[in-house]
Amino acid sequence: MPKLNENYQNLKESYLFVEIAHRVAEYTKANPDKKVIRLGIGDVTLPLEPLAVDALHEGVDAMTSTETFKGYGPEQGYEFLRNAVVDYYAENGVSIHADDVFISDGAKSDTGNIGDLFATDNVVLIPDPVYPVYVDSNIMTGRQITYIDANADNNFLPLPDKNVHADIIYICSPNNPTGATYNKEQLKEWVDYALENEAVILFDSAYEAFITDPELPRSIYAIEGAKKCAIEFCSLSKTAGFTGTRCGYTIVPKELVFKASNGEEMSVNAMWNRRQSTKFNGTSYIVQKGAAAVFTKEGMAQCKENIAYYQENARVISETLAKKGIRYFGGENSPYIWFECPNGMDSWDFFDYLLNNAQVVGTPGAGFGKNGQNFFRLTSFGTHESTKEAMERFEKLF
Ligand code: MLT
Repeated sequence: MPKLNENYQNLKESYLFVEIAHRVAEYTKANPDKKVIRLGIGDVTLPLEPLAVDALHEGVDAMTSTETFKGYGPEQGYEFLRNAVVDYYAENGVSIHADDVFISDGAKSDTGNIGDLFATDNVVLIPDPVYPVYVDSNIMTGRQITYIDANADNNFLPLPDKNVHADIIYICSPNNPTGATYNKEQLKEWVDYALENEAVILFDSAYEAFITDPELPRSIYAIEGAKKCAIEFCSLSKTAGFTGTRCGYTIVPKELVFKASNGEEMSVNAMWNRRQSTKFNGTSYIVQKGAAAVFTKEGMAQCKENIAYYQENARVISETLAKKGIRYFGGENSPYIWFECPNGMDSWDFFDYLLNNAQVVGTPGAGFGKNGQNFFRLTSFGTHESTKEAMERFEKLF
C-alpha cells in the first residue's frame, strides 16, 4: 500500500471556487426559472481580441503542413514570445532578459509549482486574505505558514514586520481578492526586507494590466534590488481574456542566487529551468502564437479596450456601494471590488442571502482567509448588462 501525502488531510474539502460552483449548481437546480448573475470567480466574458484569434488560426495552419509543423517546443517557451514579453516590460520601463522569461499555461500553475524549488522547513509568509492557491499549495507540501494580517486598518496592504523572519513571501499586487495595490515606497519596504532576511518574494502581478495610475508599479522589478530577491508571475488570463486559452509567464532573474547548505551557490533560474524541463513540455505553439499577437502594439490596444470595458463595470459596482454607504476597497487599478458585508453579516451567510434574494453570485471573503470573514468580493468581469442588473437587484435589497 502506498503511503499517501497526508498533508492533503489538512486541506479544506474543496477548492474555494469549486465550493461556490457547487452551491450555485444546487440553487439553479432547485430554482430553474431564476436568472442567476455570476460575479464570483474572476473569469472574463469578452471574446478574444481579433488579432489574437487570427494568430491562433495561423498557429493551427502551421500544424497542417510538414514544412511548418511544430512538435515539442522549448520547455521555456518560443523565443518569439519570450522576446515579446521582454519588450512589453521595456515599454513599462522595466528591463528584463529573455533568458529570465519562462512561458507557461498560466500563473496559477506556476505559483502552485514554484514550491518545488524550496525546502519544506522554510518560514512562509502569506497575507490574509489571499488567493487560496498560495495557501493550499504550501499545505500540500506540509509547510508551516505564518500569516500577516491585511485589514481595513492597513488598507489591506500589510508591510513587513522587522521582528518577524520569513524565508518565502507571497505578494499579489493589484491584490486578489482585495483589489488593493502597493505603491513603490511600500513595495520597496518588502524588497528591502527580503534582501535583509535573504528571503525570496513570490510576486503575483496577474492583474497589472488593470493599473491605470502611472505612479503605481506594474512589476516588482520596478524596485531596485528586486532581481536579487523576487520571482514574478504574470498571465494573459485577465490581460487578454486567456482564462480558457491558457498562457502565462514567470520571470526568474539570473541574479537570484542562494547558498545551499553545502556552501554551493544555486541559481533559482537554473533550478526552475531544470524543473520545467523535467515536468513540463511547454505551452502549445498555437497558444504562444496567439499570445505573441497580444503583445504587439495593436494587440495591446485591443486589450486596453476590453480592460476599459471591465473598468466601467467596476465603476458601476463601486458607485452602487458608495451610494449605499458600504465601505469598499479596490475597483480602481483592479478588477475586484472588496466590500464589508452589510449589517456585519458573515460572508458565507451573505453569499447565501445574495444568491437567494437577488440571484447574484459573489465570493465570500472567508474563502480567502479569516480577515475576509465579514467581507465580500465582486468581480467586474461580467457583461455591462449583467453587472448593471446585478447592482440594480443589490440596491433594492439594502
Ligand atoms: C479568482 O476568481 O480569484 C480568479 O479567477 C482565480 C484565478 O485566476 O485562478
